[in-house]
Amino acid sequence: MDDNKKRGFMTKALHSGWSCDSATGAAGLPIYASSAFQFHDSAHAAGLFNLEEDGFIYSRLANPTVQAFEAGLNALEGGVGTLATSSGQAAFAHLITALCSSGTNLVVSRKVYGGTLTLLQNIFSRFGVETILVDSDHPCQVEQAVNDETRGIITEIIGNPMMNVAPLEALSRIARRQGVPLIIDNTFATPALCRPIEWGAHVVVYSTTKYISGNGNLIGGAVVDGGNFDWAAYPDKFPELAKPDRAYHDIVFTERFGKAALAAKLHAAILRDLGGCPSAFDAYLLHLSLGTLGLRMERHSANGLAVARFLEAHPMVEWVSYPGLASHPQNDMAKVYLKDGCGGMIAFGVKGGVEAGRKLVDSLSLIGHMANLGESRTLIIHPASTTHSQLTTAQRAAAGLSDGLLRLSVGIENVEDIIADLEKGLEAAGK
Ligand SMILES: Cc1ncc(COP(=O)(O)O)c(C=O)c1O
Repeated sequence: MDDNKKRGFMTKALHSGWSCDSATGAAGLPIYASSAFQFHDSAHAAGLFNLEEDGFIYSRLANPTVQAFEAGLNALEGGVGTLATSSGQAAFAHLITALCSSGTNLVVSRKVYGGTLTLLQNIFSRFGVETILVDSDHPCQVEQAVNDETRGIITEIIGNPMMNVAPLEALSRIARRQGVPLIIDNTFATPALCRPIEWGAHVVVYSTTKYISGNGNLIGGAVVDGGNFDWAAYPDKFPELAKPDRAYHDIVFTERFGKAALAAKLHAAILRDLGGCPSAFDAYLLHLSLGTLGLRMERHSANGLAVARFLEAHPMVEWVSYPGLASHPQNDMAKVYLKDGCGGMIAFGVKGGVEAGRKLVDSLSLIGHMANLGESRTLIIHPASTTHSQLTTAQRAAAGLSDGLLRLSVGIENVEDIIADLEKGLEAAGK
């Protein structure tokens, strides 16, 4: 394991989580399609149920194929333990359940994915967990918002839709000072481009549906525990981790599992009770995809930069937001936190508002028009005529979405073909 820590990203990606089946020699990761696992005897069963032994009981709690994917992602991210979930939404739901209770709050960037906001504001608010929205580009706003009841600071490495870059070091300093974990949604960068734990973040969250899969063939999520937050120092704030768990034989997770207390709690208690586990088949696909993640992100980043430059020079384009462009307000920060590339996500504004956006999207032939991102194939969406069409122009503006905004997820095709399709779309938009 220590040898693996020293290896390069691509090597780790191909050699983490699974080597081969000791019983059969099978080199491919088996899909353990089994709901439950046979106990050796009653003592073995008791040891597993009391968390005294590692092993498998029931696939809602743990499954060998899922565990291989978790170990693979964990190695790439540099965590002490990872929970894979059935979706990115489930990843946040499980994490927040572990950290918050009624009367507490989370300090959250107002520029995060809309689904994260609705989960917090429509669901968790009903259980007494308040969301305090801030502009996390301005760390002083974050610091002012944190109070005694705050249980976490949440932002995205690259925000959706404006592609703002998280000021990781400033936020992690605030989190340490205030005794709350910094939680980074790293979906847009992946560990191939940024490992937030190395910059002081405490927990990393994923929608693995996106780049981690890359194939657009599943829905999944993950929570990576950085092992660098001292939960035991704040037992009153984080009783689920640092006080006896009545629903688990009075185990104190920080005492039993040390640095990996959060990961252990998420697996043994939160997943057990909420049940948002992934299938073995999806975990198999995700583990397979990890092997090529580094290569794919290299290509997404190269294509992303080339397409952003093309758009910036096009007369039909009003503005382009891509952290790799010199014109991006946080380009200096991107050079530090995203030094190996900024991935494939671009936001841009086309002249002519909603109608021009519609025409552009409708005249594309290569680029897919769908509500996903991070696939190997290039995708586009025009929020004003799709995901946000039910809002007024004023409401969209308040959310940072102008009517001409398009969100492009640049894939790994030959970049000339992506550009040729966009050229056609922009011409149509201008007619
Ligand atoms: C940044 C980000 N986080 C989380 C999610 C939620 O993930 P999922 O759709 O896998 O539930 C999404 C979905 O688009 C996302 O873009």
